[in-house]
Amino acid sequence: MSTMPRDQLHLDRYEKQWLYMITIALGVFFASLLAGAIIFGVQPAGAGGFVNPQKLNETMFAQPGVRHMGGNRYEVVLLAQAWFFNPALITLPEGADVTFYVTSSDITHGFMIEHHNVNFEVVPGHIARAQVKFNRVGEFKILCHEYCGTGHHIMHATIRVEANPEA
Ligand code: CUA
Repeated sequence: MSTMPRDQLHLDRYEKQWLYMITIALGVFFASLLAGAIIFGVQPAGAGGFVNPQKLNETMFAQPGVRHMGGNRYEVVLLAQAWFFNPALITLPEGADVTFYVTSSDITHGFMIEHHNVNFEVVPGHIARAQVKFNRVGEFKILCHEYCGTGHHIMHATIRVEANPEA
């Protein structure tokens, strides 16, 4: 009664070909996702951990700023809030290898540094982490590139990369 006759499962030739193509496309997408994560180290922006946005004064975000970790390694703890970044000016020497830790105390913001390959979302409760090397002397803007209200267009900070006196 409930058994379906075999011939009702018949697939048209083109239908079958499209199913194969879709299956192959999904396989390619999945493989590229794995390759991105494993070979290129692509991670979601929450990868730095979690934080309670109501208790930021008990975390590293109580004192945002630049920390020298020895050699050319630096850490920058940055707080995003409507509508500025704290600190607003970050000074680094040429060649600095910087790990950024960024969170938001209010709403979702964006983070990108002009002329550098870093771009992520800053979500309250998440610590976004990214490593960036500054090989060029100059001033580069950190921009909020995610609409966050009436002051969105003025939300920015500056990274000043100074020539290394030893070089
Ligand atoms: Cu913060 Cu747009």
